[in-house]
Amino acid sequence: MAQYDVVIIGGGPGGYNGAIRAGQLGLKTAIVEGRGKLGGTCLNVGCMPSKALLHASEMFEAASGGEFAKLGIEVKPKLNLPQMMAQKAESVEALTKGVEFLMKKNKVDYIKGWGRIDGPFSQGIGKVVVKAEDGSETVLETRNIVIATGSEPTPLPGVTIDNKRIVDSTGALSLPEAPKSLIVVGAGVIGLELGSVWKRLGAEVTVVEFLDRILPGTDTEVANAFQKILTKQGFKFKLASKVTGATATDKQVQLTLEPVAGGDAETLQADYVLVAIGRRPYTQGLGLETVGIVPDKRGVIANDHYKTGVDGIWVIGDVTSGPMLAHKAEDEAVACMELIAGKAGHVNYDIIPGVIYTKPEVATVGKTEDDLKAAGVAYKVGKFPFLANSRAKINHETDGFVKVLADAKTDRILGAHAVGPNVGDMIAEICVAMEFGGASEDVARTCHPHPTRAEAFRQAAMGVEGWTMQA
Ligand code: FAD
Ligand code: NAI
Repeated sequence: MAQYDVVIIGGGPGGYNGAIRAGQLGLKTAIVEGRGKLGGTCLNVGCMPSKALLHASEMFEAASGGEFAKLGIEVKPKLNLPQMMAQKAESVEALTKGVEFLMKKNKVDYIKGWGRIDGPFSQGIGKVVVKAEDGSETVLETRNIVIATGSEPTPLPGVTIDNKRIVDSTGALSLPEAPKSLIVVGAGVIGLELGSVWKRLGAEVTVVEFLDRILPGTDTEVANAFQKILTKQGFKFKLASKVTGATATDKQVQLTLEPVAGGDAETLQADYVLVAIGRRPYTQGLGLETVGIVPDKRGVIANDHYKTGVDGIWVIGDVTSGPMLAHKAEDEAVACMELIAGKAGHVNYDIIPGVIYTKPEVATVGKTEDDLKAAGVAYKVGKFPFLANSRAKINHETDGFVKVLADAKTDRILGAHAVGPNVGDMIAEICVAMEFGGASEDVARTCHPHPTRAEAFRQAAMGVEGWTMQA
């Protein structure tokens, strides 16, 4: 008899949500986590601390950058960075403790240490060896192993992360001072979110990007509009540029770059450099070789519904293919445990939203216009600018727009893309509509509260059939 029905390796959003669902389904479950705290990248060094700093820095900028004064609130703010960092750490601590409580509540054993798969299954039972901090090892026998080991920053050849002057996202979440200048390598989600944090706290931010655009994969019209907004905010962009090296001293970094297309090299100087050129699956020390699993660039590949090629071994979250997002990991975790329990787990990969929590936010779901054009799909577009949304207008948040894409024949919503105030929260209504197979007319004829920014989504949906009323 195995001790466990499921042993999950990794305590991030994939692992801990999976453990909760497995517990609910009555599966005897253990979760193995090596970093000493549950919550994974997301809670410890990702989603949550970054959002804590985005919120705090947004408040600071509103107070210092004239936004409060415009509303008739005159204050002279002083940055207390240690307190800003302390409140971030307190929130993170509370969240990770909360996850630990949820493990107990769902009767999940939390085993601290690094787990490794130990050889092939025998008579349907596999082994996970957990090495604790003190070096002691525990063997867990289980009918199912779920790999949820997440991801790590992709290194940039020629540039050594010292997490002092040249930092990755983890370093950028804990800088000891507000830099006067920051170079961000990579115009992706991390670069633009954490670049925004330090920009608001006083840094001159230059973003160096290999491609000739920001946010590859995001709807081009939205990405271009967002770049204009960021430029207005003071961001500098060096697109189509290749970093060739970086040298750090105690006080500064010199970064050399050259145009991708060839041309003169250039040297930039800044207090700090943040390297954020993507993340890669993490499988170090996992013992995959003992069961014959060979990961590729996308990680451990599932051949059918989270099943690896080895019976009894499953994989979810950042360590497998698909977008590296916490909610994608969570949804896969739920579906995977339901399948292990003999139920019908399912994730709709066409409807995984993505949000960039800058100001304004960027939110996207479904197909982009670029996707539809490339696939030759006949579609209609409805658009609505926040300039014409009354709530955005009274709040002085008029940058951006909403775009709804619908099938030209059936009117079924194929995607929605927005840049604007709070669009990250509001995109959820389009996700629900899409999940129900909704048409743009369904959103257009749904009564929305007034005055809300959500009306911009309704007006954009009305625009698909050409009856936008307020612009
Ligand atoms: P992880 O969260 O990476 O968890 C894996 C865990 O496994 C880790 O704790 C690791 O220590 C542990 N582990 C690894 N190997 C072993 C082993 N052998 N034994 C034991 N434990 C092991 N996503 C969003 O959706 N929204 C956001 O706002 C967002 N913001 C982000 C901001 C930043 C700065 C970063 C870096 C990421 C952000 N992400 C965000 C991405 C998000 O963090 C990941 O998609 C998510 O954490 C993936 O969950 P996971 O469970 O697959 O892996
Ligand atoms: P990313 O994939 O979003 O962006 C990386 C950027 O770096 C791209 O624009 C890419 O073209 C560029 N790049 C690649 N190589 C380069 C090079 N050598 N020089 C210059 N530019 C280069 O990756 P990022 O920002 O590191 O984030 C990693 C993951 O974390 C993402 O997949 C994202 O989904 C997740 N994340 C999600 C957040 C959210 O949902 N709000 C927030 C932060 C991270």
